Amino acid sequence: MNLPFKVKLVDVGPRDGLQNEKAPVPAAVKIELVHRLQEAGLKELEVASFVSPKWVPQMADGLAVMTGIERRADVRYSVLTPNMRGFEAALTAQADEIVVFASASEAFSQRNINCSIAESIERFAPVVAAAKAAGIRVRGAVSCAVGCPYEGDIAPDRVAMVAELMAGIGVQHMGVADTIGVGTPLKVQRAMEAALKYYAIDRLSGHFHDTYGQALGNTLASLQLGVWHFDTSVAGLGGCPYAKGATGNVATEDVVYMLHGMGIETGIDLDKLVDAGQYISDFLGRKPSSRVATALLNKRVG
Ligand code: HMG
Ligand code: MG
Repeated sequence: MNLPFKVKLVDVGPRDGLQNEKAPVPAAVKIELVHRLQEAGLKELEVASFVSPKWVPQMADGLAVMTGIERRADVRYSVLTPNMRGFEAALTAQADEIVVFASASEAFSQRNINCSIAESIERFAPVVAAAKAAGIRVRGAVSCAVGCPYEGDIAPDRVAMVAELMAGIGVQHMGVADTIGVGTPLKVQRAMEAALKYYAIDRLSGHFHDTYGQALGNTLASLQLGVWHFDTSVAGLGGCPYAKGATGNVATEDVVYMLHGMGIETGIDLDKLVDAGQYISDFLGRKPSSRVATALLNKRVG
């Protein structure tokens, strides 16, 4: 066991969490959510996607959100950029970090970004080069790293292949994503180990959707390998428009509770985080999808 003593969380709630909401969420609400998350101590926030507004209408106001935030110098604000057009928007928005997103499954790549894995890497290469020239950090995400809604199980060597391609174009950090939350701890460890062939442990993160309730177990399994970066979503918000039935990322509240209980630092104030989750859940008209948030909110009432 090689447990880290601290963990960095990227709250992807404003982006991954909200991208699939049917009813529009006004920019002002997204901005307030970002403010509450930074108030809770989150230092990395995934705020928007500069993708086609026809494909993902909920993310059409990314520039308004990015420019409306009262930014803090110690917080990193990231955005998704599938191509040069997205990158230009990220520059205008003064994003600190961009995320290029590929897939370990050919079928998902086609559905999600309308091109093959190889074509996606070709599209990302100039984006990564331009970001580096502009001094902007680059993260990569590899979707369907353990399973795909169209292809089923995904072998670890697919993850290694995409990791090698991403590393080859200069992507600095890679997220291993279980897009549809089908992974179980040992499968996730195999996917992480595949990525570790091309990315050092400090440059690797876990991004686990919780569709089958495995995300906390998968987080622990990754921690046991020494992984110390994770994407999580406040109130467990989310889903992917191209992965039918997939639910949100593991709730930030649940991960923070587990980590603090294990003596692992996050720098996050759990009570304020629960407030942030309650804020957005109230707006959406439902309860937070987080066991920890539910328990703590019940305790407050009691
Ligand atoms: P395409 O159709 O292949 O590309 O889309 P295109 O260049 O032919 O453009 C099509 C239309 O999109 C054109 O508009 C472009 O102007 C516009 P039209 O002429 O039809 O009016 N367009 C853009 N508009 C705004 N910003 C841009 C942009 N680029 C083109 N950057 C594209 C390719 C990637 C754009 C499209 O497939 C797309 O937007 N897909 C959405 C992908 C997406 O956002 N998926 C969800 C996020 S990924 C995710 O959630 C997974 C992750 O969480 C990890 C995990 O859990 O797995 C990261
Ligand atoms: Mg995701």
